[in-house]
Amino acid sequence: MNQAILGIETSCDETGVAVYDPALGLRAHTLYSQIDLHAQYGGVVPELASRDHVRKLLPLIRQTLAEAGMSVRDIGGVAYTAGPGLVGALLVGAGVGRALAWALDVPAIGVHHMEGHLLAPLLEDAQLAPPFVALLVSGGHTQLIAVRAIGDYELLGETLDDAAGEAFDKTAKLMGLPYPGGPHLAALAERGTPGKFKFSRPMTDRPGLDFSFSGLKTQVLLAWQKSDQTDITRADIARGFEDAIVDTLAIKCERALDATGMQILVVAGGVGANRRLRAKLEMMVGQRDGRVAFPRPAFCTDNGAMIAYAGALRLAAGLHDGAGVDVHPRWEMATLPPLPPSLSLAKGRDGVGLRQCTQL
Ligand code: KG4
Ligand code: ZN
Repeated sequence: MNQAILGIETSCDETGVAVYDPALGLRAHTLYSQIDLHAQYGGVVPELASRDHVRKLLPLIRQTLAEAGMSVRDIGGVAYTAGPGLVGALLVGAGVGRALAWALDVPAIGVHHMEGHLLAPLLEDAQLAPPFVALLVSGGHTQLIAVRAIGDYELLGETLDDAAGEAFDKTAKLMGLPYPGGPHLAALAERGTPGKFKFSRPMTDRPGLDFSFSGLKTQVLLAWQKSDQTDITRADIARGFEDAIVDTLAIKCERALDATGMQILVVAGGVGANRRLRAKLEMMVGQRDGRVAFPRPAFCTDNGAMIAYAGALRLAAGLHDGAGVDVHPRWEMATLPPLPPSLSLAKGRDGVGLRQCTQL
């Protein structure tokens, strides 16, 4: 019986495809980023995103299968992102995924994008297993989740306004940095002097695990407008902003570990690629004999591998969806059905490199 699971990610501005074999691990994964397409507009234009997924998805599937040394007949199941995300973009992946599964007569499942992010660190780390606290920090979400088992998720806290990635992106934009702002702002912050600009650590002065980042960008805007607006000042402000976000996330992560009595922190989502956040959390857990796990940076941001892996786990548990093309632009992760605790799949082989495709 064919086992390989094809994973498809099209929830926003990256087309990601991967093949994951439950016995052998990750076989191939490829990514096509639409950054150049949206950069001129300063953000993702949903209609353009959907159209580009239509153009790129099938060639990317062919290429990923070729890299895995497989043909379409070797696919034993299909996993596609069914939400949350942009409805048109989701429908492209769901439509292709479902049609392919129908044609091949194999099961298909719609995967929760954030569960994909949350499980990505498990893909390559043989020691890692629940229970753990997960910090999900992406462009659309900032959540702390108690993961008691795969599929058993309790929301401990979340942002009341902007997500951490969104705060990075908006702050970068107001200082004139190109889209997507997060990585640009982080690179700029490397050259900034810590402490030159001090911004608040929102909601850390009261108990609780929620976040609020929208006020920070206003603080940055005022500082930027009042400043001499030189490159050095921009880097100093970037550093001050990054330190404020990183400190705030670290304080809340420590509180979540205390509140749950858990020792392991797992970080996932695009902001998890941030170097300073990684270093700060390493230090924080090191001081309390805990452990922090991050996926490699390519698995922090959107990718097909995390969708293939999350889908493979659910398919292995006997779950699958009906033949309708259903997507959920808004979708609470806590509504997902839990999986049997004994379930475990092969971890990814080391060294399956990301194939970044610029021409399709
Ligand atoms: O998880 P992701 O790829 O997409 C969503 O599901 O949202 O996260 C994208 C977000 C963007 O806001 C991006 O600016 C941010 O992650 N990001 C970063 C870094 N790399 C990506 N933010 C800070 N530092 C980084 N190095
Ligand atoms: Zn994402």
